[in-house]
This record gives sequence, C-alpha cells and structure tokens, in this order.
Amino acid sequence: MKLSPIPLLWGAASVAQALSGAEWQKQSIYQILTDRFARTDGSTTEQCAITSYCGGTYRGLIDHLDYIQGMGFTAVWVSPIVKNLEGDTPYGTAYHGYWAQDIYSLNENFGTEQDLVDLSAALHARGMYLMVDVVTNHMGYNGCGDCVDYSLFRPFNNSGYYHPFCEINYDDDNSVRTCWEGDNKVSLPDLKTEDSGIRSTFSDWIKDLVAKYSIDGMRIDSVKHVEKDFWPGFLEAAGIYGIGEASSLTVLDGNPAIYADWQNFYWVQETFSNPSATMDNLVNGINTLKGKADTTALGVFVENHDQVRFPSLTSDMSLAKNAIAFTLLSDGIPILYQGQEQHFSGGDTPNQREALWTSGYNTQSELYQLVATLNRVRNHTLAAANAESGYVKYQAWAVYSDSHSIAMRKGDVIGVFSNMGSGGSGYQINISGGNSGYSGGEQVVQVLGGDCNVITADGAGALNVQVGPDPVVLYPASVLEGSGLCGH
Ligand SMILES: *[C@@H]1O[C@H](CO)[C@@H](O)[C@H](O)[C@H]1NC(C)=O
Ligand SMILES: *[C@@H]1O[C@H](CO)[C@@H](O)[C@H](O)[C@H]1NC(C)=O
Ligand SMILES: *[C@@H]1O[C@H](CO)[C@@H](O)[C@H](O)[C@H]1NC(C)=O
Repeated sequence: MKLSPIPLLWGAASVAQALSGAEWQKQSIYQILTDRFARTDGSTTEQCAITSYCGGTYRGLIDHLDYIQGMGFTAVWVSPIVKNLEGDTPYGTAYHGYWAQDIYSLNENFGTEQDLVDLSAALHARGMYLMVDVVTNHMGYNGCGDCVDYSLFRPFNNSGYYHPFCEINYDDDNSVRTCWEGDNKVSLPDLKTEDSGIRSTFSDWIKDLVAKYSIDGMRIDSVKHVEKDFWPGFLEAAGIYGIGEASSLTVLDGNPAIYADWQNFYWVQETFSNPSATMDNLVNGINTLKGKADTTALGVFVENHDQVRFPSLTSDMSLAKNAIAFTLLSDGIPILYQGQEQHFSGGDTPNQREALWTSGYNTQSELYQLVATLNRVRNHTLAAANAESGYVKYQAWAVYSDSHSIAMRKGDVIGVFSNMGSGGSGYQINISGGNSGYSGGEQVVQVLGGDCNVITADGAGALNVQVGPDPVVLYPASVLEGSGLCGH
C-alpha cells in the first residue's frame, strides 16, 4: 500500500529554548524508522521479515547516537510514536507507525515512555534535536474499506468523528481532504479535522506530547489531506516548527510555520541515476522551483521510507555519491534516510525499509565517510559570521553546466557534480570569475576524495576544475581553519 507520499515538516518552539524556524534551517536531519534502526540488545544477525516488527527500540537508538553524530547530523527524525493497530494485515504489521489506534499511548514495541524521555534527553545532552513524526489525518484499521470497528480507537471512538467512507480521487482537492487514504485491506478512516472538537483534542494532545518528551520539531504526515486552516491552531498549540509531507509546494506561512518537503527533488534522482540523462532537467527544475518557493525553507532528500532507494536504480557508487553530495549541499534542510550511508538498495515499499543493523553500523563505509565530510563542510560554513545571508539564505545557482556536469554555488562553497558514472572519463571545465565569487589568485581546496588538491583562481577569479565520476567540492583555503577538513 502506498502510505502518503513523502513528507517532511519542521517546527521551532515558541518556548525559550525551542528552535526557531531559522535555527531549524541550519540543522541536518537523519531520518529513522525506529523499528529498523537498532535493537535494545544490540544484536545484528537475527533474521527479520520485512513486513514484521523487527525489534528496533528507543534504547537501541540511544546506544547508537555516536553513529549518527559521527556523520555530523544534528537532528533525528523518528517514525510515529503512538500506539498502532496490532497484529498482522495483508501488508504486515504497523512497524512503520502510520496506523494509529490510540494517540494517548505509545507503541510499546519501541519502548516505554521513560525510554522516549531518555532518548530526548540523550539527544539534547549532545546538542542535538528530536523531531517526531505525527499523523492527524487518519487512524488505522485492519480491514475492509468502511467495515471499521470504531470502538477500538482512542479517543475518536465512533463513526461521528470521521468522514463517510469514499475512495480518494487525487485530482480533486476536496476528495483528498475528505476521502480515505488506505484501501480495502488496511483502512485509514479520515478524521473530520474541520470539526472544532477534534481540533481542540489534537491541540491539547500535541501540546502535552511536546512538553512530556521535550520534542523540538515535527514532521507532519499527510499535510495536504487536512484543510489548511487546521494547521495554524495546531502549530500554535505545539509551539514548535514542522516540516510537512506535501506533494506540492504548499508552504504554510505563520509563526511557527510548516515547511514543505521538496517532492520535486525527483529531478536529482532522475538525473544522477542515469548517465545518459543530461543536466538540462535539473537546471530547469531548480530555476522553476526557485521562482515558486523559498528553496531555503524546504526539507530536501532523495530517499525516504516511501521512495525507492537510489541504488535500486543503479549500483554505481560514483552516481550515489553525486546524488548524496548534491542533496547535502543544496538549499534547504538536508534529510538523509537511514541506510543511504550504507548504500542500501531496497526498491518499492516495503523493501526500502531494511534493518540498518545488517550493515554492522560500519563507520568506515565510503558513503558514511562522504556524508561526514559533507556535513562538516556545511557545519563549518554555518559557523561563519555571515552564515545567515552568506549561506542559509543564499539560493544555490548553477555557475556552470554542460550535458554531464553541473557546478552549483552556495555562498563560498562550489559543488561540481556529474552523472558520467564510474566508467566515465574526466575533463576540465572552466568556471568564470564572475560566477565563482572567488577573488583573483584565491586558493581553493578540493575537500572531498582525500587528496585536498589546491586550485588557484586566475587573476579574474576563474577556475579550471577537473570533473570526473565523483563529486568535487571546493572551499576557500582562507576559511578552512577549524573545519576538521583536510587536516585543519
Ligand atoms: C559544528 O561546528 C561547531 C563550531 O564551528 C562545532 O562546535 C561543532 O562541534 C560542529 N558540529 C558538528 C556536528 O560537526
Ligand atoms: C468512547 O470513549 C469515551 C471516553 O473517551 C467513553 O466514555 C465511551 O464509553 C467510549 N465509547 C465506546 C463505544 O467505546
Ligand atoms: C576561463 O575561461 C575564460 C574565458 O574563456 C578565460 O579568459 C580564462 O583565462 C579561463 N581561466 C582559466 C583559469 O583557464
């Protein structure tokens, strides 16, 4: 079954210590499917069926925060936490968390209330943040279209809380808001979120949840399946920012605001997974998007729990590196889905939900190391005095492109990406002085790949850069100090 398409939302709290929206834009997020990240006993070998509960817990997660922080992530998005339908359905169990039955209890498969409190505290002790996935659009029921036993739900325990059963017509916004996601195997009864009683129940619920677990941000599921005017009250009650799962670029304004996820990032997957694609779609896509939305306020990703993984399209390691580097250095808040750093290759749902522990949490893997370096680049740039205007709000643009490579400048950082693949032969490109932003004679270091080559710009600031199968990231030598990059 297709759970709602890819979502992401952020929130910043209005309480003193909470993260503002602007602060969320500086974070780098690691997305976790709690059931598949780490077990309490740390075991890595026991087999698990992909549609069953596999044993991941908050305790296991607490024990593996070094693995996440070691890659430079500053926030963790965990899959939905509330109690879900029990038992097996034709699609398996509710290990993913999107089939709620009781919003006042936790899903005990992942641990106790104390375990979640401890996870939040462990993150905060490291200077990291907790983002929780929340669903207000629907509940979940193991069964056949509208033959739902509503008495199982807490608190919405009779049919009066729900829209009458109907199948969604995705071309009709009203149908999207009032009809039911799900199908005749697992029903997702659609709540009457326009009802003031339901709204105040959700507002009280999220306020308590945020306070109890010291939650810093929300990822909000199925945003466009709920009327827009539901969100301001909900966000105000939550007091934190959210990133919304949205298949269109609806960014809800207000304070706190919901940022939309960047569904249109499929350009990145299309372009970098296919050595015979040209860069034109990517360049056009980026330019169109920039005209429509504030790209710096979007959550960006190439994989998540509902999308086929990039390596299911191509096993080429160089192409995977380009897709990851492009994502982590683009506008917006980068989000990496667990397993990307281990080159996991699961295809369509549920196959992209592999247990991470089968990788042995290998911190030496090529992609883990690449992600760590890219997050270091980003983090160091954000520490600069002019980070706000010079990086966070600077909209990346293509300073060079040809049929197989593209150079994107974001502030002082230039990323050069290609889709020639591992077998491709390199060539030189010339980034003009006006475009590079570097000064005449400036020294620029190539921070990926380990050799830390220094390139010197010509008198006008132009650069010749060798493009190859792997991405290239250029950073001014004068500001490398303290970055942890290239021996600094
Ligand atoms: C980010 O940079 C700051 C200082 O610039 C440093 O204190 C912090 O440890 C870095 N964080 C990560 C995750 O690298
Ligand atoms: C529904 O829930 C309310 C309390 O929230 C309870 O009083 C009532 O008995 C429940 N009804 C059913 C049919 O379970
Ligand atoms: C880059 O190209 C420009 C224009 O063709 C040229 O003037 C400049 O010398 C080139 N720069 C380098 C470093 O080769």
